[in-house]
Amino acid sequence: MFYTPSSERYQKMKYNRCGKSGLLLPAISLGLWHNFGSVDIFENGRRIIHCAFDNGITHFDLANNYGPEPGSAEENFGKILKKDFTGNLRDELIISSKAGYHMWEGPYGEWGSRKNLIASCNQSLKRMGLDYVDIFYSHRPDPNTPLEETMMALDAIVRSGKALYAGISNYDAQQAEQAIKILKSLGTPCLIHQPKYSMFVRWVEDGLLNVLEENGVGCIAFSPLAQGLLTDRYLKGIPEDSRAAKSTGFLKTSEVTEEKIAVIKKLNDVAKDRNQSLAQMALTWLLKDKRVTSVLIGASSVEQLNNNLAALSNTNFSNEELSAIETILK
Ligand SMILES: NC(=O)c1ccc[n+]([C@@H]2O[C@H](COP(=O)([O-])OP(=O)(O)OC[C@H]3O[C@@H](n4cnc5c(N)ncnc54)[C@H](OP(=O)(O)O)[C@@H]3O)[C@@H](O)[C@H]2O)c1
Repeated sequence: MFYTPSSERYQKMKYNRCGKSGLLLPAISLGLWHNFGSVDIFENGRRIIHCAFDNGITHFDLANNYGPEPGSAEENFGKILKKDFTGNLRDELIISSKAGYHMWEGPYGEWGSRKNLIASCNQSLKRMGLDYVDIFYSHRPDPNTPLEETMMALDAIVRSGKALYAGISNYDAQQAEQAIKILKSLGTPCLIHQPKYSMFVRWVEDGLLNVLEENGVGCIAFSPLAQGLLTDRYLKGIPEDSRAAKSTGFLKTSEVTEEKIAVIKKLNDVAKDRNQSLAQMALTWLLKDKRVTSVLIGASSVEQLNNNLAALSNTNFSNEELSAIETILK
């Protein structure tokens, strides 16, 4: 397969400023947590990446441990970059990686020490065959490492040219506020926060989004479809090829409960009345908040990705629709 990117790619996407930075991110970004590992079909992943870029998705999110095997998503992404994104196309991409979750044995293979972050960043660059990533994240706060050390490691990674921007993920409002302050004092502003946020997981509304807005930091919402629950995927049971059914999937069958399906069916009816799929409604429902820079989706097929991309053609909600959704979610 020879890949030539669509010449219309930048007409198809909306780009949002990431906080008060100079960086624009696509309203929809693609994550490689699932579906791009060594257990997955490489050509399927490659087609998904092509479709994403052809539709203006410039931002691809990775982490050291994505796979499985851990590291294999970065390796596969590196192969796709080498095959298909030659020449100056690298300059049209925003690639992120992270360190913080368990990656290798021994005391330095996880959490927030300078040792872990810098070694892990070096490993990620090697796996992807890159000189630098655009954003490097502390993947989770570490209760046993001084926050200053973790932030100094991010600052050092940026200053060494191995990342262009620094980000944090899974930090609560108070931790985020401190991290942002330290990074600012070091001269490397915090570009972005990556929290879990969807109709089903709304903790960010209780303070974090305000902290980010006040400090000019962007927000990219991960698992905006609640790993597939906020789609039509599970309306008629658990399909064999779904994340919940796969032994390597992070979504457990025990999370697909009858109560949840009842709620999902009601949300699906609201989406139908809007002439949208539930996935599309779940994404636009997040993007209506201007503090949300981008929604970071996953997809196991080109069809799913196309369905999600079409969300951007219907982004307005009436007050009636919003209150109907709130009533269902209560
Ligand atoms: N920072 C962190 O700690 C953290 C943690 C988790 C994720 N993330 C990031 O967020 C990204 C997205 O997470 P996620 O994969 O959980 O996101 P998600 O968008 O909530 O879920 C993606 C899954 O939903 C299903 N799906 C997507 N579009 C669909 C459609 N139109 N119709 C039906 N089903 C659809 C697919 O499931 P099937 O596979 O069943 O088809 C797909 O794999 C990750 O890749 C990663 O980059 C970050």
